[in-house]
Amino acid sequence: MIRASHARAVVSRSALITNARLVAQRVAPAELAVVVKDDAYAHGITEVVSALSGAGFHRFGALDLTTAREVRERAPEAMVFAWVFGEGDDIATAISTHIDLGVSYPSMLERVADVARRIDRRARVHLKIDTGLHRAGVLAGGWPDFLQRAAELQNEGVIDVTGIWTHIAEASYDADSAAIRRFDDAIRRAHSVGLRPRLRHLAASAASFERADARYDMVRVGAFVYGIAPGDGIGPEQLGLTPALTLSTTVSAVETVHNRTIARIPVGQVNGLYSDAEGVVDVAIRNRRYPFVRVTRTEAHIDLSGSGATVGDDVYLFGDGTHGESSLQVWADAMGSIGEEIVIRLARAAEHVYVE
Ligand SMILES: Cc1ncc(COP(=O)(O)O)c(C=O)c1O
Repeated sequence: MIRASHARAVVSRSALITNARLVAQRVAPAELAVVVKDDAYAHGITEVVSALSGAGFHRFGALDLTTAREVRERAPEAMVFAWVFGEGDDIATAISTHIDLGVSYPSMLERVADVARRIDRRARVHLKIDTGLHRAGVLAGGWPDFLQRAAELQNEGVIDVTGIWTHIAEASYDADSAAIRRFDDAIRRAHSVGLRPRLRHLAASAASFERADARYDMVRVGAFVYGIAPGDGIGPEQLGLTPALTLSTTVSAVETVHNRTIARIPVGQVNGLYSDAEGVVDVAIRNRRYPFVRVTRTEAHIDLSGSGATVGDDVYLFGDGTHGESSLQVWADAMGSIGEEIVIRLARAAEHVYVE
């Protein structure tokens, strides 16, 4: 990807590795699969996968098949799980490169089986039950038939049912408990048709950290590995996780406008900074915080209130706090958003620099 240099994303490999170790210790004996969708939450998939697989992490959640292929190139031996694919996707390559496929509908199961039959390879599939989130997955009513068909295809030798999985909201304890009960029931039914999937998985960041009963054999964790809060509730700081990415830019002009000293920075709406930053979040320059006063299409204006900042000074938007900047979580809370969304918007096209 060509990365413009309006901003710079400094990504700490040691923060990623330390976060992943903390999560892994917390969820053991369940296994950690690191979710690397959206270019590893805009941290840069190539470097993230290299750093983590070099540190001994061998399971990744990719979402789509293109991402899965990128992971496979960097981590030839890893388990790579992808769960979104459709008509135009190269399922044959995914099967022959041992990508584990999350299958959410009977029609997807048949497509995967057809391709596996055609190329004479067994597909590794994880069957998805909808336990209440209604974001893909087979509903309880259709689950017995789905399992029956999966068992037939497994007996035929075209698929291996290696997993059963679901996704939960992680928004309320009671709703998650209900989803866990439905998941247990779905697993029991799988056993009753002779399926013994090795990997049962349900939890993402929040539930995997908070609930032992949500961990099963594997957890799919994205946000916490990057040191990002997945939403309301428990955040990375409380858990001892470090934000892995610091986003900065430089002052491009300093001017007096209506008796105020304004610094212009080259990060605007086209770079993913929306006007909801005005007045609610700030940046750090020379270790002091200054607020956004205006966001235009191509730049933002910072109120310097008489400081000595000058053109070319580094401007830190969010990060691990080393330069006096806020955390991404502070930004997310102030803008009524979640960290993942903000970092993906703002860091995706930044120049990426990797440090130990
Ligand atoms: C199916 C699935 N599992 C796990 C995750 C990881 O979630 P989090 O970043 O909250 O850990 C995602 C994120 O989108 C997901 O879609």
